[in-house]
Amino acid sequence: MSTINSMKLTIEAKSQNESFARSVVAAFFVQINPTLEQIEDVKTAVSEAVTNCIVHAYNGAQQGTIEIACSLTEDTLTVEICDFGIGIENVEQAMKPFFTTTSTGERSGMGFTVMQAFCDNVCVTSSKGHTTVKLVKKVA
Ligand SMILES: Nc1ncnc2c1ncn2[C@@H]1O[C@H](COP(=O)(O)OP(=O)(O)OP(=O)(O)O)[C@@H](O)[C@H]1O
Ligand SMILES: [Mg+2]
Repeated sequence: MSTINSMKLTIEAKSQNESFARSVVAAFFVQINPTLEQIEDVKTAVSEAVTNCIVHAYNGAQQGTIEIACSLTEDTLTVEICDFGIGIENVEQAMKPFFTTTSTGERSGMGFTVMQAFCDNVCVTSSKGHTTVKLVKKVA
């Protein structure tokens, strides 16, 4: 299906921008009439992805850039969340439930599992200096 609308947002990797980012994506998503549950699903998934950029990509330094690109077809939202941080060495391993590189006990290693549970598709590509998390959510 063809794209009916798109938008891009660039934010600083600061924790105070996490709720802003998920609200902006949700506000964009409402154009294709999702249910309240679908909106909540997208907010949760975006929140996990953006938090990963802040916490992991830039090591919680509260600096760095996150780019969020959204596009809509009649029945699908696609969100790409990009950072330019340390990258993920082994994406397959990183996406496994309970895998985390944070040893402080603060993290449960469930971020990608949550994204997969709340979206129709999650695709991660990463190399040093560039990670992209692509989330797909259908309304039909
Ligand atoms: N944008 C990123 N840049 C670099 N590494 C990342 C990024 N996103 C995730 N990772 C790596 O993948 C691992 C798994 O991520 P995931 O979100 O599943 O768990 P977590 O962030 O460790 O814990 P939780 O999300 O439950 O708080 C992270 O511990 C981190 O090593
Ligand atoms: Mg996480």
